[in-house]
Amino acid sequence: MNFNQSNIKKAKKYLDKNYCIGVPTETVYGLAANAYSNIAVKRIFKLKNRPTNNPLIVHYLSIDELKKDCVINNNFIELYKKFSPGPITYILKLKKDSKISKFVTNKKKNLAVRFPNHKVFKNLLKELKYPLAAPSANISNRLSSVEASDVREEFGSKIKYILNGGKCSIGLESTIINLTNKPTILRLGGIDISKIRKILNTKIFIKINSRKKIAPGQSHLHYSPGIPLKMNIRKPQKDAAFVLIKKRKKDLKNFYYLSKKNNLNEAAKNLYSCLRKIKNKGYKSIAIEKIPNKGLGKAINDKLSRASKY
Ligand code: TXA
Ligand code: MG
Repeated sequence: MNFNQSNIKKAKKYLDKNYCIGVPTETVYGLAANAYSNIAVKRIFKLKNRPTNNPLIVHYLSIDELKKDCVINNNFIELYKKFSPGPITYILKLKKDSKISKFVTNKKKNLAVRFPNHKVFKNLLKELKYPLAAPSANISNRLSSVEASDVREEFGSKIKYILNGGKCSIGLESTIINLTNKPTILRLGGIDISKIRKILNTKIFIKINSRKKIAPGQSHLHYSPGIPLKMNIRKPQKDAAFVLIKKRKKDLKNFYYLSKKNNLNEAAKNLYSCLRKIKNKGYKSIAIEKIPNKGLGKAINDKLSRASKY
C-alpha cells in the first residue's frame, strides 16, 4: 500500500480538475469523480461505457455532508449507526436544493449513497469539498477490480491516476437497500440481509431479480469474466479451470482455490481476482464447485449465477 499524504494531494489535484481516478474501497475499487460536476460525472459514464440511465453511487465521509443532498429517515439512521462506514448503500430521496449533478441519477429523484470504510478513501474525502460519485472500476459488464493493477488493466492510460490502497478486504460490492419506501434490498453484497433484519423492526422486501430493473446491477450480464462459467460442478471438463472452496487431496494445475479452509469471507475476497487470473491465463471455460448458500456465500452465488448466464 503506497498510501501517504502526497498521493492524496495528487488525487485531489486530478479530481479538482474534473478528472476520474481509481480509488480503493473495502468492497471493490471505484472509478471516482466529483459528484457535483456535470463534466466529471459524464466522464465516468464514457470511460466505463455505461448506459447513461444506470445511476451512480455517491460516497460521503459522514452523515453531516450527506444531509446537504438527501432527506434522511429513521430506518436510514438505524442502519447507518450500525453498518456505516461499511459495505452498504442506501437509496434516499434527493433534496430539491441538492448540488448532485443531474447526470448521476439520470434526473431521477433518488440517490444511492455509501460511506466507504477504507483509510485511503476516507483521507481523500476529508480533503475534498464535494462527495465522490464512484461506480465499480471496470468496463460495464466486466469483472470488478479488487486491486490497483486490475483498474489499470481495465482502463489503461485512459485514466490519469489510481490511488493504491492494496487489495480490497471484502472483495464484493456493497449491499444495496432502498429506504425511500418500504425497505427493499436491490443487490446482495458485503452485508448479509439477516444482519439488516435484526436492526430494522419491519418487513424487508427483496427485489434482486425484478423484471423492471430498478438497479441495473440486477442485470444478468453483470460480473462476467467473458468466458463460459458453470456452477455446482463436481467433475469439470479437462480443459476448464476448476474453482474450489474445499481442499482436495489431489492438487491439479487447473485448480484454483477461493479458500483452502472453506471460509466464505476469504472466498469472497478472492473471487474476482481468481476469475480475472483464470481469464488472463487463456482458459476457455470455468467450472465452479458448489458454494454454500449462507452468509457471503449468498452474494457470491448471486454474482456467479449472473455471470453464468452470459
Ligand atoms: O461496493 C460498491 O457499491 C462499489 C464501490 C465502488 O462503492 N460501487 C458499485 O457501484 O458497485 P456500481 O455502479 O458498479 O453499482 C451500483 C449499483 C448499480 O447497479 C446501479 O444501478 C445501482 O447501484 N444504483 C445506483 N443508484 C441507484 C438508484 N438511485 N436507485 C436504484 N439503484 C441505483
Ligand atoms: Mg459495478
